[in-house]
This record gives sequence, C-alpha cells and structure tokens, in this order.
Amino acid sequence: MVLLGAPGVGKGTQAEHLSKKYKCCQLSTGDVFRAAKSASSDAMTETMREAVERMKQGKLVSDETVVQIVRERYDCLTCGYGFLLDGFPRTVDQAKALEDMLAELGVSLDAVLNYTLDTDEVIRRLSGRRTCRACKATAHVIFNPPQVEGMCDKCGGELYQRDDDQPDAIRVRLKAYEDSTAPLADYYDRKGLLINISAEGSPDTVFGRTETLVDKRFF
Ligand code: AP5
Ligand code: MG
Repeated sequence: MVLLGAPGVGKGTQAEHLSKKYKCCQLSTGDVFRAAKSASSDAMTETMREAVERMKQGKLVSDETVVQIVRERYDCLTCGYGFLLDGFPRTVDQAKALEDMLAELGVSLDAVLNYTLDTDEVIRRLSGRRTCRACKATAHVIFNPPQVEGMCDKCGGELYQRDDDQPDAIRVRLKAYEDSTAPLADYYDRKGLLINISAEGSPDTVFGRTETLVDKRFF
C-alpha cells in the first residue's frame, strides 16, 4: 500500500500502527533523508547533500534521487507480509517509476490510502510536532505531549523540532503538495486503488477508520 496525504496529516503516525498490525515492511523516504542528514558530512555523497538541503527548505527532492533511494531498498517491496510506502510516490513520474519497479518484481500495488484533513489543522499538527533524535518517534506539544518536556516517552531521547517544521518551510511543503502530490489522488482513483480516509480525530480514531476500510478491502 501507499500512504498519501498532505505533510503533517499523520501518515507516519498511521504507518506505525499499520505496520504493527499487518506486519508489513514500512519505508518512509523522508526518514531516509533525515537519517542521511545525521550522518557525518564526509560520509555523505553530493546527491545526498543536495537532497538534505532541499528537504530543509521544504522542497521536493528530485525524482531521480528518490527513485534511486527506493531502488536501493528493493527488499522492502518483496516483504512476505507486503509493504507500506510513506511519502513515496509524491509525483506522477515517481508513481510511474514505482509501477516499473513493481512490474520487474512481479508485485502489485493493492491500495492507496489517501488521508484528508483541513489545512489549518495540518499546520497545527506540523508546527507542534517534536521528533525524537534517537528513535524518531513523534510527539506533539498539545495533542500528544511528552511526560517530561523535551524528552521522548518511548526511549528517553531528546525531542527536537524538524527544520522543515518551521513556518517558511511549512508553506513551501504545502505548496509542493498541492502542485505535485495532490494530483496523485486522481491518478490512483482512475486505477481503482484509492481509498479516501478522513484524518480528523485522535490517532486511534483515525486508525480505527483505517482498519475498517483496509479489512473491508482485503479480508
Ligand atoms: P516526509 O518525512 O515524508 O514529510 P511529509 O510528507 O511532509 O510528512 P510528515 O512526516 O511531515 O507528516 P506525517 O503525515 O508523517 O505526519 P505525522 O504522523 O508525523 O518528507 C520530508 C521531506 O523529504 C519532503 O519535504 C521532501 O523534501 C523529502 N521527500 C521525502 N519523500 C520524497 C519524495 N517521494 N519525493 C520528493 N521529496 C521527498 O504527524 C504530524 C504531527 O501530528 C505529529 O506531531 C503527530 O504527533 C501529530 N498527529 C498525528 N496524527 C494526529 C491526530 N490524529 N490528531 C492529532 N495529532 C496528530
Ligand atoms: Mg512522516
């Protein structure tokens, strides 16, 4: 499955629940770039340096780089329990590249979960998000505050605010989503793969909705 939706809609939060329940392999291209960012700078290739710089500004990384990143993680696409792609594809060209990869592997895409939410709420979720440096879990200063300020509930690591969760970068990300990613909903709808899911309510409420729709489709 592919998870689609605006930045901050809760894709990562739902991906965690989904991969636990369905035991599928999870790949977030954003996580790959953030992990590269924390690697030492001489261990980084020029392509990765460029990708990280674009990510900081909220811009999309080039299709070529993202597709290469996914290709290097082919194993995920052949996981016996299936795969969950969070944040890929994000353009129609990436969707076509994914189709080619899956055809090479003899695997098919079963569903695209498209999370929808009002833009003001998306901005609230993004601007209050805090991410753990160690385990990458997320918290939210209002919706899901940590027990100890600045400290991850899961592992005790330091919580920080992502560079691209600053107001300027949020604006750029939302524009990139509208221009390049939102058209994918129609693209997948025409292929009969799209499942629209409201992302309103608590993470558990959204997951309940997701489970019902996924189980109805597959089981
Ligand atoms: P990526 O990491 O994929 O970022 P994104 O799509 O902008 O999405 P986010 O991770 O910000 O949000 P999310 O939907 O996962 O929400 P979350 O669950 O954290 O990509 C980052 C960058 O990498 C891109 O901008 C680009 O530069 C590059 N990139 C990656 N893939 C690319 C590609 N394919 N092509 C080109 N470039 C690419 O939740 C958000 C917050 O809300 C959290 O604080 C959470 O606790 C809270 N929350 C979640 N659910 C709820 C709820 N139901 N109620 C209340 N609060 C909630
Ligand atoms: Mg995410």
